[in-house]
Amino acid sequence: MRSEAPPMIKLSDYQAPAFLVRHVDLKFCLHPTATRVFSRLECVPNTGKSAFLLNGEELQLISVEIDGKPLADDALILTETTLEIAADALPDGDFTLCCETEINPEGNTSLDGLYMSKGMYCTQCEAEGFRKITFFPDRPDIMATYSVRIESDEPVMLSNGNPTASGPGWAEWHDPWPKPSYLFALVAGNLVSYDDSFLTMSGREVGLKIYVRPGDKHRCEYAMDALKRSMRWDEQVYGREYDLDLFMIVAVDDFNMGAMENKGLNIFNSKYVLASAEIATDRDYELIEGIIAHEYFHNWTGNRITCRDWFQLCLKEGLTVYRDQQFSGDQRGHAVQRIDDVKMLRARQFREDAGPLAHPVRPEEYIEINNFYTATVYEKGAEVIGMLRTLVGAEAYERALTLYFQRHDGQACTIEDWIKVFEDVTGTDLAQFKRWYSQAGTPRISVKEDWDGNTYMLTLTQKTDPTPGQPDKQPLVIPVASGLLGSDGTELHSTEVLVLDKAEQTYRFEGLPEKPIPSLFRGFSAPVIVERKISNAERAFLLANDTDPFNKWEMGRAYALDLLSVLATDAESTIEPDFLNAMATLLEDQTLDPAFKALALSLPSIEDVMDAVRQGGGTPDPMACYDALSRLDTAMAGRMKGTIEQIYNALDNDGPYTPDPQAAGERSLRGRLLGLISRLEPNVETAMRHLAHADNMTDIMQALPLLIRAGRPEAKEALGSIYESWKHNDLVLDKWFAAQAMATPPEHAAEAVAQLTEHPDFHWKNPNRFRSVIGVFAMANVAGFHRADGAGYKLLTDWLIRLDPVNPQTTARLAGAFETWRNFDDGRQALMLGNMQRIADLKGLSKDTGEIIGRILE
Ligand code: PHE
Ligand code: ZN
Repeated sequence: MRSEAPPMIKLSDYQAPAFLVRHVDLKFCLHPTATRVFSRLECVPNTGKSAFLLNGEELQLISVEIDGKPLADDALILTETTLEIAADALPDGDFTLCCETEINPEGNTSLDGLYMSKGMYCTQCEAEGFRKITFFPDRPDIMATYSVRIESDEPVMLSNGNPTASGPGWAEWHDPWPKPSYLFALVAGNLVSYDDSFLTMSGREVGLKIYVRPGDKHRCEYAMDALKRSMRWDEQVYGREYDLDLFMIVAVDDFNMGAMENKGLNIFNSKYVLASAEIATDRDYELIEGIIAHEYFHNWTGNRITCRDWFQLCLKEGLTVYRDQQFSGDQRGHAVQRIDDVKMLRARQFREDAGPLAHPVRPEEYIEINNFYTATVYEKGAEVIGMLRTLVGAEAYERALTLYFQRHDGQACTIEDWIKVFEDVTGTDLAQFKRWYSQAGTPRISVKEDWDGNTYMLTLTQKTDPTPGQPDKQPLVIPVASGLLGSDGTELHSTEVLVLDKAEQTYRFEGLPEKPIPSLFRGFSAPVIVERKISNAERAFLLANDTDPFNKWEMGRAYALDLLSVLATDAESTIEPDFLNAMATLLEDQTLDPAFKALALSLPSIEDVMDAVRQGGGTPDPMACYDALSRLDTAMAGRMKGTIEQIYNALDNDGPYTPDPQAAGERSLRGRLLGLISRLEPNVETAMRHLAHADNMTDIMQALPLLIRAGRPEAKEALGSIYESWKHNDLVLDKWFAAQAMATPPEHAAEAVAQLTEHPDFHWKNPNRFRSVIGVFAMANVAGFHRADGAGYKLLTDWLIRLDPVNPQTTARLAGAFETWRNFDDGRQALMLGNMQRIADLKGLSKDTGEIIGRILE
């Protein structure tokens, strides 16, 4: 038990800042353990006479002055987290506040604020890291211009904006665009840059630089190309031009998240920058492209227009995710992009919405804001924007966005501001639609059909289950993109968006020649769960005939889940040949693109199977679900054996590796087929050959897990030789660890992972490494983690307890592995509960982890 519970921050308590800061001058004298920070803030009273409250954590205050005069001791109140200057000590009108503080970057293991990563100085200020650098009213509605001087012996010294002057041992930067403190950044170290330039739509030349450690420069080409494509795309699709002379990206190895959109100086986890065929998989290339775009797009959606307070986080994140998904769809094909996005939404956001951590897209309270960088804020936030666009139409969406940029440039905004531009452009009242921002939980839609020989009636009902703090739910506005098919597969009624905004509604379709087969929620037009009892024959029909590629995929998935939930509860049950025939037809279809085929031939995740078992009223046994997947996979392989081998061989491409979507799609199909072939080969000889011929990381990572899963001695050899060749490359080592944590058979995964943690390269304080071993085990070796004896839970818990004092953010995130605990049998629930209790009882537990565990246990 903590003595003092950390306070709950509430949206309803928001108050405008008492003082604004117009301009900030900063000087850093860098030193690994004793960095001096001099700040000069130009302050402006904003709400009448009051005390000035600044945030500050882990700072040593050296001096503080107002308008050049030291403050009397009784004019200051200094606490662990704040500095308060009495109202009487402040002049009426504008003033300057100068502070000198000392901080210890090397001692900062939380990777929040100014810290060191492999000898390099870097910062992370979102959400509240700036207060670990200097005293400041650290809230996003205070936007200031910044001038920064850095003094050190480091060869490269960077900050936001444009470089203004430099000399031996110092560099100066100026950012002319007012920004909130969370977008401040500083980097200094021994770095080299990969350079290029971009000509903007108005003809300005922008310098582009990607800074990496010496030795990584040859791995920046793809990220640079993705950056230039992002810049062009934002001009062409959103009319947004870049606004500084320079755009910089820095890759760092120690980073809590994916990347950060600091103005003009994005800081990236190196795994989302560095790529070459030998170290990065196709999936890595795809993520690099998407994340480079995401951070770049923040320049307008996030930086030029920012959030008034952290409750509005989805204002920048939902919109920026939506924009990066649009971009990736344009680059890689919309069908495959949509399927990938929905898979991820279901795996992470639906899971969150269905459990104790459920919260609205715009939360109304938090203890630690870092715990709200969630799938709900990001991915559901993006879905809400997609629905808005579907409802108002592409043309009105474009006008609304233009108005948003015009009206709110330079401001810190709210969801109300965002909704208002849509209301003003379309003249409609969006009050009900806005519930998507305040109501948590995934709506469940039930479907009833009637046919009277002429008119087809579709009745849709919506219901959202209670979530923590929200027992009663209101109807939402749900766009249902629907089409109707005839029995010969023709489209009787092409896609139309039905609007479901009541608890129940009936839609009539007149004059149809026969009872149609509906294709609902085309393109996954709303983030809902459709509860529709249809026959597998109808699923097979839609899988074969639907013109909507998303629903085509969806029907295959639904069909597979139906079979898997039976297999998982009755291991003796037989597998319907119709499903296997449908899969075989799909595999042979010459018209489908390989990337789509790979997705359509893949089976649902083990979590999906567990959910399906629960839908059927059972309590899932993870091991039985794992076995059900193996059985169905093996049956598919058996049914299609000849064709699989033939297509697998035909896809063997002897040319050099290229990361383009076409080649990647072919490799992904080939990888899926390899997985199927391996089900029929106890000695996994095809996988061994695949590995032996691999000249790129994608092929290696397709084959290696299959050898590990099969328990082949060759797996050890392969792991040994990969280790020998790559022991100096952390990104490859992360994959080396992850492959073992993920693919070791569930029966002995806990022991294997425990052994991995003894490896000399298990640098557990590095978030990427910790996640590759502990995170991958808990999230991607589901049956292993949930082993009935609790060994998996204990292993995770022991490591969370060790990590929490070092890095609370990463600990809290991984503690989310327990969020589904109530879905399991009593024995597992008791084991998970006991382990969570061990965490909750810790003396000095971080407020990050304390909040997550507290909410899970509530
Ligand atoms: N704002 C970052 C993004 O979405 C994410 C992030 C949050 C990174 C907090 C670091 C810390 O792009
Ligand atoms: Zn973002």
